[in-house]
Amino acid sequence: MSPAVPVPVPVIAIDGPAAAGKGTLARRLAELYGFHHLDTGLTYRATARALIDRGLPLDDEALAAEVAAGLDLGRLDRAVLSDHAIGEAASQVAVMPKVRRALVEAQRRFALTPPGTVLDGRDIGTVVCPDAPLKLYVTASPEVRARRRCDEIRAGGGEADFDRILADIRLRDARDSGRADSPLRPADDAHLLDTSEMGIEAAFETARRLVDAALGL
Ligand code: CDP
Repeated sequence: MSPAVPVPVPVIAIDGPAAAGKGTLARRLAELYGFHHLDTGLTYRATARALIDRGLPLDDEALAAEVAAGLDLGRLDRAVLSDHAIGEAASQVAVMPKVRRALVEAQRRFALTPPGTVLDGRDIGTVVCPDAPLKLYVTASPEVRARRRCDEIRAGGGEADFDRILADIRLRDARDSGRADSPLRPADDAHLLDTSEMGIEAAFETARRLVDAALGL
């Protein structure tokens, strides 16, 4: 008998700008299909947080890449990495190619976990898993995203200034889309999901139908 041909592990790739709702969508899809989920933003956040905690600079590429390579993906916790300032620091370390190389390697290993995976981030469909059978690009207007981020912070008991958050979101969009290495952009074969005027349930339903069709379910 010939050896079994390995069946590729299906990957759902979800990209989009800050606070577009891709995290919630990714978590719910992973739950529905029984797939593993990796929020790749956490890998950049954890790298930034480790540098800050050790009093190290955010702009030393070799040092940041070393920290990135030593991360344990199994121990990422959004609750301890959720701070708005950590997101800002994460987008600073995310411009460095050596940091990206270390993290992308770990993300690609994760993407091979059976029975399937959902990865969300900025470059999943374009760089990390360009062969993913389903790619979603989730977006919303900067104002809607700033409003959602404010509500999220306030729901967690924090204080949020809408104008400052909107300015930060615009700055982060510009940095993420303007960087030379793996800029934020939809893959050519991604399905666009604009959630500006769409609730999470409607977005989830649309995504579910696309996944079913792509995976032949
Ligand atoms: O949750 P939020 O949308 O604010 O951001 P995040 O997904 O936690 O990502 C934080 C930062 O990490 C982003 O602004 C990006 O600069 C960077 N990132 C990236 O470059 N590539 C990814 N695949 C994921 C995040």
